Amino acid sequence: MLLSIISPTYNEADNIIKFVNSIELILKKYDYEIIFVDDNSSDKTHEIIKNLSSKKPNVRCLRRIGRRGLSSAVIEGCLSSSSDLLLIMDADLQHDEKKIPLMLELIEEKQLDLVIASRFLSHKNVLGLTKYRNALSKFANFLANTISKSRLTDPMSGFFLIKRTVFDQIAPKLSGLGFKILLDIFSSSKNKLKYKEISFTFKKRVYGESKLDSLVLWEYLLLLWQSKFGNVISARFFSFCLIGGSGVFVHIVALYFFINFNLSFLYAQTLSTFVAMTSNFFLNNMLTYRDRRKKGFAAFKALLIFYLTCGIGASANIGISNLLYVSNVSGVSGIWYFSGFIGAIVGSIWNFLMSSLVTWKTK
Ligand code: GDD
Ligand code: MN
Repeated sequence: MLLSIISPTYNEADNIIKFVNSIELILKKYDYEIIFVDDNSSDKTHEIIKNLSSKKPNVRCLRRIGRRGLSSAVIEGCLSSSSDLLLIMDADLQHDEKKIPLMLELIEEKQLDLVIASRFLSHKNVLGLTKYRNALSKFANFLANTISKSRLTDPMSGFFLIKRTVFDQIAPKLSGLGFKILLDIFSSSKNKLKYKEISFTFKKRVYGESKLDSLVLWEYLLLLWQSKFGNVISARFFSFCLIGGSGVFVHIVALYFFINFNLSFLYAQTLSTFVAMTSNFFLNNMLTYRDRRKKGFAAFKALLIFYLTCGIGASANIGISNLLYVSNVSGVSGIWYFSGFIGAIVGSIWNFLMSSLVTWKTK
């Protein structure tokens, strides 16, 4: 087959049929398939795709359960294809399908590895993005180009055509973190990639809503960390350590308040441990384990497991810090922040081990 269109979806129920129809209209003369990779959308996007797929053999749905992530969805979709060319494209009608024939023409004619549809080649700002997202995009572009030493006008574009053989070569090196798949491809490729950019107008979203919130900046920083230092310290561990650090801070602030409320040290330290554990749980769920994040009841259950598995860590924390606090060692005993700090550190290390192995373990 000539072309596979890989389209990640998350709650795009209202867009699927329109998307498939618009592609059909443009690619009448071509041999192609559409592979949607859906992360078990709550609006049942996968069911709509499967219904469609029973009528149209060139439409497929790869449904992933217990997973989230635009990049990893795209990677898995690409890996499931055996076509000569892969077109990565959003399913929400914001990408201009009329550019596809030109992209196909260029990659053949000029013997390129990639053709990238850029939002910024002939526009300074993107209409379909808010002011804030435009500014964020520019900052991210600047960082990306500095780090990957490329000169793309839109390294974050989610609309590009790549030869499957090229993709297959790079695939084992891709981090799959976050949503910056194109940047991931450029920074993971050993060889210089032959590419060309074309311009397109990023349309405003009509149905559904954007899944990229301000937390994508965090994912983005993790991806940059992974591409620079991932060999030494994984981005996930780095993120966990940062949150652990914030947990120590939360703990000390809470302890300060409780002590000032005239609670005994033991009570104050116990309560602060709970406050810090809760804050660590939610931050890790949002940031460190974003791709496995828990929602609703599952989040509540995970929080309980988090408390439970960290119970031992917490007892060690309380035990050690209280021991230090009431001990007779001069310069150590009676100093609440020193005792509290040491206790919190011991607890954090334990929390990390248990989180990776139990609370957010992959299915
Ligand atoms: N499978 C899966 N899993 N798909 C996802 C996920 C996810 O966790 N998150 C988003 N998607 C899908 C959406 O359903 C949509 O088809 C596409 O990925 C793009 O997501 P949007 O939420 O619409 O992103 P955007 O329009 O705000 O962002 C655009 O700009 C980014 C750069 O700033 C997109 O073009 C992105 O591809 C681009 O990287
Ligand atoms: Mn979009």
